[in-house]
Amino acid sequence: MSTPLIGVSKSILKIKELISHVANTCLNVLITGETGVGKEVVAQSLYAESVRSSKNFVKINCAALPETLLESELYGFEKGAFTGAHKKRQGKFQTADKGVLFLDEIGDMPLSLQSKMLHVLQSGEFSPLGSDQDYKTDVWVIAATNHNLEDSMAKKMFREDLFYRLNIIKIDIPPLRERKEDIPSLIEYYIRLYRSEYPENHGSKPEPDILEKLCQYTWPGNVRQLQNCIKKQMVLNSWEKILDDLPREHPDLSPQIQINGQSRESYSLENHEFANNRPSIISEFVDLSTSSEKLFEDISLKKIKKMASDRVEKEVIGFVLDKVGWNRSRAAKILKISYKTLLYKMSEFEVSPPVK
Ligand SMILES: Nc1ncnc2c1ncn2[C@@H]1O[C@H](COP(=O)(O)OP(=O)(O)OP(=O)(O)O)[C@@H](O)[C@H]1O
Ligand SMILES: [Mg+2]
Repeated sequence: MSTPLIGVSKSILKIKELISHVANTCLNVLITGETGVGKEVVAQSLYAESVRSSKNFVKINCAALPETLLESELYGFEKGAFTGAHKKRQGKFQTADKGVLFLDEIGDMPLSLQSKMLHVLQSGEFSPLGSDQDYKTDVWVIAATNHNLEDSMAKKMFREDLFYRLNIIKIDIPPLRERKEDIPSLIEYYIRLYRSEYPENHGSKPEPDILEKLCQYTWPGNVRQLQNCIKKQMVLNSWEKILDDLPREHPDLSPQIQINGQSRESYSLENHEFANNRPSIISEFVDLSTSSEKLFEDISLKKIKKMASDRVEKEVIGFVLDKVGWNRSRAAKILKISYKTLLYKMSEFEVSPPVK
């Protein structure tokens, strides 16, 4: 079952209204917004409310596949169309016929494939690779991106004609920090959802003072980050601990949140010379001002090793992503890890593009 679109803010209510208006028109929709704001949730809601809900909802992530694979996934291929095409395969345009095709991360679609996509959207016809036959397709195209497509068009990275084809109805989801009213209902929803999943069952609502601090936080990873915090609370049973970890997880934004009346220092490798400043690096992981008894209790080599390696990994991943303009396939290649591992680590460490 798909996730309901939770929220009571004006912007979410407006989006819900727009969804019910658009759901049965099948006009192309472009959903924009930062990472984790709920673009896929909105796409699923559009589908669920439409007459197409009894047909397929087919998703394709345009950023996750290399160009040639993306093309064959979209349009399918005939036997012998290329080396390795041992048998004919149906593409997403065909699987999604009469249903919805969700083009996720459309901003990452290579330019070379954009013209073919435009042609299919205009004509409603496509031909699989290696075939000279045209097939009719009736799909409702919903696209999503966290790129600013206007910028991409200015840089000639995204075709204007395709943009206008996709952008008939635009749904822009604001970041969570601009609709803080949604935070309490999202917390409530996810606590209820996870109660049965987590045997520790620590799902207690935050006290009003904690809730206020949670609402003050900037949530660069948006709803996904909040959702992960709730999962963590299910296990740790401490909202204070979660609150305390937030600025450390997003050092760039830490000055904006005050925890216990003090703003936390941001972490950067330059500030912490491993070789010359040993006490400072230890103080990153344990509170050196506590009594030695408590201090020794907190020092566990295994735990600190994990915390340190996570932090270095996070820093390196963020650094490389930043260098390659947040192109995840390129970053994975540079880091010599699989794309899937990179996505997993980005989600685990909550690494997301900087807020513009
Ligand atoms: N309004 C909402 N109500 C309930 N859950 C939400 C809402 N918005 C987002 N979520 C949850 O947050 C997570 C991220 O949402 P989603 O995958 O739709 O974001 P996205 O905008 O597509 O992110 P990305 O750009 O990283 O792909 C999901 O687990 C989703 O269920
Ligand atoms: Mg998404």
